[in-house]
Amino acid sequence: MSVTLKDIAQIAGVSTATVSKVISGKHQDIGEKTIEKIRKIARELDYRPNSLARSMKTKVTRTIGLIIPDVRNPFFTDLARGAEDSAHERGYSLLFCNSDDDLNKEMEYIDTLTQKQVDGIALAASVKRNRKLEEGFRISVPIVTLDRDVYFPGVRGHIHSDNESGAYDAVKYLISLGHRRILFLSGDLTIRVSKERLEGYRRALTEAGIEYDENLLLGGPFSFEYGYEAMRTWEMDPEVTAIFCGNDLIALGAIKALKERRIKVPQDISVMGFDDIYLASINTPGLTTIRQPSYELGYATVRRLIDVIEGVDHSDSTMVIKLELIPRESTAKPKKKAALG
Ligand code: RIB
Repeated sequence: MSVTLKDIAQIAGVSTATVSKVISGKHQDIGEKTIEKIRKIARELDYRPNSLARSMKTKVTRTIGLIIPDVRNPFFTDLARGAEDSAHERGYSLLFCNSDDDLNKEMEYIDTLTQKQVDGIALAASVKRNRKLEEGFRISVPIVTLDRDVYFPGVRGHIHSDNESGAYDAVKYLISLGHRRILFLSGDLTIRVSKERLEGYRRALTEAGIEYDENLLLGGPFSFEYGYEAMRTWEMDPEVTAIFCGNDLIALGAIKALKERRIKVPQDISVMGFDDIYLASINTPGLTTIRQPSYELGYATVRRLIDVIEGVDHSDSTMVIKLELIPRESTAKPKKKAALG
């Protein structure tokens, strides 16, 4: 006997209309607690919008779902391009979703894609996670993740960059130019991606005999606005001659704020990013950065997902992608200190 909205409503002690709104994602006027309660019951009862969907799930639709967290960030749009090419080459269509870096929206999209009977989901996760909520979230189609970590059970593969080595190479490069006090304007420090980049930053300092100073670590969103605001308000430390940023958007925002403060890049201070989005090469000055092969990340993730869908065995469920230093004009040797008179 298939589970109905009415069954869920009775258990939850709400109206069928409320359950229907939550299931269809139109729950703006419903409290978070009620939404979570209804979702939990629906998952426990293995609710499906209609029994036809369940019987039809055995039918392969040759469709992949891709969820990315920020469609405005060229890193993720390049990634989506690689994902689509990879799906197309294997005869699959791609449904594309933007979660706006919001876990609830991400989970709604997983539900929606499942109801649309995709054969699998490739997920570039949002930053903020909720272990308890995710561990109770049943995903009934194969899912492969890339870049950031998730707590969802049953993930069939994870592909990410070697962030620690990438950050190490970045800071080692700045030190090779002569910089010793380097500000790290990190992305969100709650996620492993940023923690690994911080480890690489610290390893390069230690190797050069430079003491780590936690006052030179700032953390915030992976956004242009964050980089701009951080450097607009930063209390200048004349000893700091370089800034390493958690991604290119932070770096480009920082450069804009520095220019407004009449601080020249790289003459007065060097700035370095991470990702190598196309804006890094067209900016003036060109942004020195670490290239994350975003296209290849998306391409490889969908290839792995389709292998899982088609039963190709993958013993190694994790794939780590090497990164590359891309020197450009935003970094230079530090200015010589005025000779002591
Ligand atoms: O630009 C977005 C950043 O967040 C990238 O560095 C990527 O690794 C993601 O985690």
